[in-house]
Amino acid sequence: MEVQQSKHTANTSTTGAPRRSMHDPANGHFRALTLYAEDPDCVKAARDMVGSYLQNWGLAYAVDDARLIVSELVGNVVHHAVPDDHLATPGAGRRIDAWLMNWPGLLGIGVSDEDSTPPDLPAGEFISPELAGDFIEALLPDRGRGLLIVQRLADAVWWSPGLKGSGKTVWARLDLDRLWVEYSA
Ligand SMILES: Nc1ncnc2c1ncn2[C@@H]1O[C@H](COP(=O)(O)OP(=O)(O)OP(=O)(O)O)[C@@H](O)[C@H]1O
Ligand SMILES: [Mg+2]
Repeated sequence: MEVQQSKHTANTSTTGAPRRSMHDPANGHFRALTLYAEDPDCVKAARDMVGSYLQNWGLAYAVDDARLIVSELVGNVVHHAVPDDHLATPGAGRRIDAWLMNWPGLLGIGVSDEDSTPPDLPAGEFISPELAGDFIEALLPDRGRGLLIVQRLADAVWWSPGLKGSGKTVWARLDLDRLWVEYSA
């Protein structure tokens, strides 16, 4: 009886409202993976992490889009990120942190790097895919497709500066209800 009471107290804030622990699956899931851009397997490792956790969380219908998004974002760090001067250590690997977060109805994917230069997020497409018809490939640029693909797959794409102005994180949000509807159609 005493044990039960102390358990209850441990999960209760001073106002009496239950605390939301991120370890309680009812409140969502959170996973992070640190990678290094020089590791030839880093994109695959991020993809595999995303795939296996989403399967475990019962979100198999989000796996394909989420894997492609994290691949593009980690690939961008590998190809474009140059660590800020005070973070650059000669000979050291460039650090990448991949984040995967799930709240009811939402999935968040974030990729952090040590370069505070923002990504060049496409402002929008000049012509709709419907109007372009069969010529869509010809209208797309040869480069700079990665974030366009991420924007197409995600419900929102943005970036945030890192702590104390160092580095940044590029984020994508997927609305799970929309994904489920598309998947089940
Ligand atoms: N993590 C990043 N750090 C610094 N710059 C970035 C980062 N991600 C993207 N960028 C910038 O944004 C631009 C657009 O990225 P995007 O992924 O759309 O195209 P790309 O990587 O150049 O080509 P593609 O993805 O088609 O191979 C990049 O060319 C780069 O200048
Ligand atoms: Mg890219």
